[in-house]
Amino acid sequence: MERVERSINGKDIKIIIGSGLENEINRAMENYSKNISFVSRILKEKYRNKINAIYSNKYFIMDGEKSKSLRYFNIVIKKLLTAEIERNNSVSYIGGGTIGDLIGYAASVYKRGVNLTAIPTTLLASVDSSIGGKNALNFMDIKNAIGTFYNPDYIFDDVDFLVNSDASLLKDGVAESMKMALIKDKNFFDYLMKNTINSIHNKESLEYIISKSIKIKLDVISQDFFDLKKLRYLLNFGHSIGHALESYSDNRISHGTAVANGMVLESYISYRSGFSDPFYDTIRSAISGYGIPVIDFKSIETEKLLSYIKNDKKVEGKKLNMVMLEERGKAEISEIDFQQLSNYINDYRART
Ligand SMILES: NC(=O)c1ccc[n+]([C@@H]2O[C@H](COP(=O)([O-])OP(=O)(O)OC[C@H]3O[C@@H](n4cnc5c(N)ncnc54)[C@H](O)[C@@H]3O)[C@@H](O)[C@H]2O)c1
Repeated sequence: MERVERSINGKDIKIIIGSGLENEINRAMENYSKNISFVSRILKEKYRNKINAIYSNKYFIMDGEKSKSLRYFNIVIKKLLTAEIERNNSVSYIGGGTIGDLIGYAASVYKRGVNLTAIPTTLLASVDSSIGGKNALNFMDIKNAIGTFYNPDYIFDDVDFLVNSDASLLKDGVAESMKMALIKDKNFFDYLMKNTINSIHNKESLEYIISKSIKIKLDVISQDFFDLKKLRYLLNFGHSIGHALESYSDNRISHGTAVANGMVLESYISYRSGFSDPFYDTIRSAISGYGIPVIDFKSIETEKLLSYIKNDKKVEGKKLNMVMLEERGKAEISEIDFQQLSNYINDYRART
């Protein structure tokens, strides 16, 4: 078991990584006279004993993108009001990134902010969405249209939820961990390269991957919590192309697959822009080693893909602030204009 404590934006965040964390969770809950947990319905049967061992009033709720909506937000706020939750009480979630985004947002605005405990149950939620304080609801088909910055007080990364679930559930999280490694930690990337989806499907490897990933993310966000200095942009490596691929495919390509393939193409663009040696093939083999599908960019129309990139938050004027990979473990932000981007994407399509 590992404890990580950080003070970010004036709030002390306590993160506990391990297995069998029920007692730890219960000890933390004792700090509050009342607590309520919103639990993903999908976990109810499979993790019955584990969930029952956590002392909290539980409310089971649907997860998935549809739950990140004003409709579910209303349900959550009504529940908090009827349970008479006060500001010094605690609200928790047990679930993946979608429940985390919904409950994180509700906790941040309910009575102008109530204590929040996160118990992520997907690798993506452990390594990425539970860290960094962002939360969001979708609105009028716009993903993450509404949201706040709000850190939890506690995060419990209990790998029992991951070890006892299908290994394929790890893929999206691995893509984000690979991204953290590529922008900041060469040794961590080499570790991920040497492994496969099956070889990391155990307590020790998952605890290691979660610990490494969250420390990298904490280091980046602690310098730019509100995303004002563009330092957080580094965490967007693979995401300019990745988000465009998700939109292009009408969200049929999962976030992790889109980001993983985005990292391959963005590292090709980094190489062509003179930032690095050709490194995209290594990333491509790393992602396929984890069973993440490798996208054939020949089947993607460059101009249509670019039309989605134009909505990227990192676009200024006719240029994109792109995360350029310099080497494994090092990246920087640099502007690229759309014509050049188009040329490089076409060149990449021609060579695959
Ligand atoms: N706030 C942020 O900083 C941030 C960062 C990255 C992603 N996100 C958001 O996170 C969401 C994606 O998160 P996700 O991938 O966890 O999705 P998710 O919450 O939809 O979970 C994925 C699937 O796994 C199931 N599941 C959850 N835990 C399980 C377990 N232990 N065993 C078996 N099945 C389990 C869920 O029911 C769901 O079907 C997106 O909405 C994305 O926008 C937010």
